[in-house]
Amino acid sequence: MRTDYCAQLSEKDVGKEVVLCGWANSYRDHGGVIFIDLRDKTGIVQLVCDPADSQEAHKIATRVRDEYVLIAKGKVRLRGEGLENPKLKTGKIEVVVDELSIENESEPLPFMIGDTNVNEEIRLKYRYLDLRTKDAFNTFQLRSKVAIAARNFLDRNGFLEVETPILTKSTPEGARDYLVPSRLYPGEFYALPQSPQLFKQLLMVAGFDRYFQIAKCFRDEDLRADRQPEFTQIDVEMSFCTEDEVIEIAEGLIAEIFKASGIEVSPPFRRMPYAEAMEKYGSDKPDLRFGLELVDVIDIFENTDLKVFRDIAQFKKINRIKALPVPGGAEALSRKDIDELTNFVAKFGAKGLAWVKVKAEGELQGPIVKFLSDEEKSALVQRCNVKEGDLIFFGAGSKKVVLDYLGRLRNEVAKRLELIDNDKFEFVWIVDFPMFEIEEGEVKIKALHHPFTMPKNIDTDDIEAMTSQAYDIVLNGVELGGGSIRIHKTEIQKRIFEILGIEEEEAREKFGFLLDALKYGAPPHGGFAIGFDRLVMLLSKKDNIRDVIAFPKTQKAQCLLTNAPSPVDPEQLKELHIRIREPKKV
Ligand code: AMO
Ligand code: AMP
Repeated sequence: MRTDYCAQLSEKDVGKEVVLCGWANSYRDHGGVIFIDLRDKTGIVQLVCDPADSQEAHKIATRVRDEYVLIAKGKVRLRGEGLENPKLKTGKIEVVVDELSIENESEPLPFMIGDTNVNEEIRLKYRYLDLRTKDAFNTFQLRSKVAIAARNFLDRNGFLEVETPILTKSTPEGARDYLVPSRLYPGEFYALPQSPQLFKQLLMVAGFDRYFQIAKCFRDEDLRADRQPEFTQIDVEMSFCTEDEVIEIAEGLIAEIFKASGIEVSPPFRRMPYAEAMEKYGSDKPDLRFGLELVDVIDIFENTDLKVFRDIAQFKKINRIKALPVPGGAEALSRKDIDELTNFVAKFGAKGLAWVKVKAEGELQGPIVKFLSDEEKSALVQRCNVKEGDLIFFGAGSKKVVLDYLGRLRNEVAKRLELIDNDKFEFVWIVDFPMFEIEEGEVKIKALHHPFTMPKNIDTDDIEAMTSQAYDIVLNGVELGGGSIRIHKTEIQKRIFEILGIEEEEAREKFGFLLDALKYGAPPHGGFAIGFDRLVMLLSKKDNIRDVIAFPKTQKAQCLLTNAPSPVDPEQLKELHIRIREPKKV
């Protein structure tokens, strides 16, 4: 229907006869002449409906209201002197309309297009209106470009795109499954895949050598700003490869995707052992756009008069006393800030947040200083490498808790002191993960990655010291993706199940098909998956994953547009052999 898109017109088109299609972004009646801002996916151009040019078109224009769908025929001309609109890409021109048709009317909108102050529930209910902005269009254009760049790169490198089932059996990513009842098998269920993990391994056993998929994954877990119940991975697997080779492919893929988005990044990215990330940054996804490293000070407090710290310092293996030196913090952080930060870490299990300020000549000030000997004070100043005007926070307690809350404190302090450069992209590979996670005070051992991850040192007796050939790629403090070299030998797989306390019968029942496949000539293989939504979120500098998913779910896993989940017909339930137990009223 159209000859041109609105915002692609420019001075070059002056004199051209055009047909434009789009929505009335706004209209103004200026004493007989009507101006309409016509909008399509490219942007806006001004239409002029003057009865002197066309009585007919002008008459129709008087009926136009916001968001009416219009088709306008007319001629491009320069706007008069002083009438230009520098805010608009097409601000130097306008289109004089000689034919106008209203293709559809619009009821008054529930909210103004692009008004981000509107309650998100309303915006999600009318998601198609929320998506009418240029910004949304740009985001999804970027998302499409990223997918195409990924496909091109992987195709060029010999990866085959294969689809894997959605109606399947539970997969081992550690979240809760979404289940689908079977009509034909009463009481039995399919699970939606948490990832294509086991299928991609089977494709390696099939000899496909290199696989990829832009795959939908489903996980019924608590949602956060960077988590959705239904999300997409760029999923990759390859055979006869080392950890370094997989990482190289992942880096090539990431670099190509960034290039397609107009950003140059240059792999290889730095690598950091898991233990170092935890000890220095209190996180296995450290944000390296700023410094603020944690410093080990537990030995300094071995004989201190500060009793809490002395007690904690007696158990160096399970406890930590860590310092977080904040350059300039003595002035930049007020007492009120410190109190707020103390409350902040308390939410994550901190029993307190000791601090000292560094005054002139290394003199320390703060509530714990009176307990410290001169030796302890000077050891702290030296170890933390602080000078006048700096501040040091201290966390003391069990290793897991202290590292966790100090890691969060580190991010929070950086935010408050504006230490984060938003134009930076800091990648880091976290490597040498422990194979197992041993919950404190619990006998239960869990696989830190998943139970099909190849250990580095399978023969060790100290399972706490067993590390895995797993790797996570972290960007700006967000876990962008991860993967591992997989176990391809039955004996090793058996040993891992044994350590995890998974009985042979349970293993057979859950993953029998994979264990069978390992017996028929499984090649060495490994791979990774990148969180596609998270990647687009970081590239488009959005801070919520919902912004980069066309039809997202709320924090409570609802689709407000379609009203899913919702009750179903009793007939359907009957067919599925399901009876609903009314939830208990509270
Ligand atoms: P993993 O579970 O680490 O690995 O997932 C890979 C990446 O997927 C993204 N992601 C999510 N994004 C949005 N919402 C969610 N709920 C969500 N959960 C995960 C993250 C994460 O880094 N099969 C393995 C990969 C492999 O070993 O090859 C897997 O799924 O960015
Ligand atoms: P108290 O002697 O309990 O008043 O604590 C003195 C200072 O040490 C206060 O600033 C507390 O916030 C801090 N503090 C107490 N316990 C801990 C801990 N486990 N880790 C860090 N700081 C603590």
